[in-house]
Amino acid sequence: MTRAGPREPRGGARKSGRPDTGHAASRQLKSKRAPSPEAASSPKRASHPASLPPAEIAASIDLLAAIESTGRPADAVVAAFLRSRPDLPAPLRGRMLARVDAVLRQRAALDWWIAASRLGLDPDARLRILAQLLLAERRAPETVAALFAGARGLLTPLGGREEALVAALAGKPLAPPEMPLFARAGFPAWVEPLLGAAFGERLEIEMVALAQAAPLDLRVNRLKASREEALAALTAEGLRAQPTPYSPLGLRLERRVDLGRCQALMTGLVEPQDEGSQIAALLVDAKPGQYVIDYCAGAGGKTLALAAAMANHGRLVAADVVFGRLQRARARLKRAGAFNVERRDATIRKWFKRQAGRVDRVLVDAPCTGIGSWRRVADARWRLRPEDLPELVARQRAILDEAAPLVALSGRLVYVTCSVLPAENEAQVEAFLARHPGFALLPVAEVWAETVGGACLASGPMLQLTPARHGTGGFFVAILERRRA
Ligand SMILES: C[S@@+](CC[C@H](N)C(=O)[O-])C[C@H]1O[C@@H](n2cnc3c(N)ncnc32)[C@H](O)[C@@H]1O
Repeated sequence: MTRAGPREPRGGARKSGRPDTGHAASRQLKSKRAPSPEAASSPKRASHPASLPPAEIAASIDLLAAIESTGRPADAVVAAFLRSRPDLPAPLRGRMLARVDAVLRQRAALDWWIAASRLGLDPDARLRILAQLLLAERRAPETVAALFAGARGLLTPLGGREEALVAALAGKPLAPPEMPLFARAGFPAWVEPLLGAAFGERLEIEMVALAQAAPLDLRVNRLKASREEALAALTAEGLRAQPTPYSPLGLRLERRVDLGRCQALMTGLVEPQDEGSQIAALLVDAKPGQYVIDYCAGAGGKTLALAAAMANHGRLVAADVVFGRLQRARARLKRAGAFNVERRDATIRKWFKRQAGRVDRVLVDAPCTGIGSWRRVADARWRLRPEDLPELVARQRAILDEAAPLVALSGRLVYVTCSVLPAENEAQVEAFLARHPGFALLPVAEVWAETVGGACLASGPMLQLTPARHGTGGFFVAILERRRA
């Protein structure tokens, strides 16, 4: 552990280094809805200093530092952290996870305030937790100072500049009107021009929506249950859910819960999946008896949905260049009762070459910036680097070119991202059509009625979902039909 000295604010809390007990941490980080700045700033919270045990704050700092010091997804870091800290009681873990999730969402605002204090402090985990306690949780400065002063052995006492920071932030609102949008809405400043180009005058409303925690959506597995049956099973377990507004297979839980012991999940009746992702999978229009390849299958989120749409009839191949991800799909497929799926390593090109011109549906759920998933994956916005976008655009282009020859005449290549950036979406599709004149864009509306039903949400031939407009992740879908060889 790194113990922070007063003039050395990095790190700052002790760690126990206890043995691993194993725990489904990622679910927990996601299952706790981060308190909104408004909720966190309620006077009730502020008047409960007793709910601020030093061990909880020390653990919050250690966990945040661990997330920020690796380039790995927070879920994986949280899982390892919780395994290493079996000493932390469940309620403390819950509060710690909610606090860390809130800091990840509000980091830009917290950093803006740390810079505005002009104390020459470099924001790190300890300073961000300090700022969170004052600005978002509305803790009194004396409470915060006493917490650090009285926690010898767990927290290093505040240094001089840290004390000055506490004084500077005391009573300040988390997001004052003069704060720039990127800080208020919690995203890296360099992304703002890109998002501005994507959203135009809707930038603020969309970014604020993207900053909120996502609801917990479930997709009903048609191989095992109807929506009504799945809803009844959830209700019997004490879980309250509502049908999602657009996906005919979706159920939205009324609050985020840890699904670790959910019977309906364990028996394969439902699978967690954002409503936008459900819609993307439905628009593939995979039918029983067809030959379908999920070309970037990952851990099988959409493969599961495709298998259900095919009612286990026909051939479904889940492919990925990282075979380890496909391995993780195995247990999920078994649980869901999906038996028509074979897994293929996409780096072994010989097999794919033999499939040329044979496949009815090829789904390319491409690697992307993931900006559309920022509601669900709070730390992803801080892992994205400016140089990632051109690299991803080139990769998407290469994947589309690899996947296109697989498609049979009259078959479809369905291109999906979880991004809102035109460079990854519309521009990528237009460039593909210019390179592949045998393909034509099939308007999403022509597939929507039969697969999703209700009024089509696409405003043009391609579909862009957004959190503010549709309450889903920011998914993009384009359907490309092969009209000639
Ligand atoms: C957005 S993720 C897929 C998510 C998955 N479809 C789901 O619904 O859970 C993109 C995936 O593309 C894979 N990938 C990247 N390059 C690829 C390539 N050239 N061929 C196939 N898969 C690739 C990555 O390993 C990653 O698992």
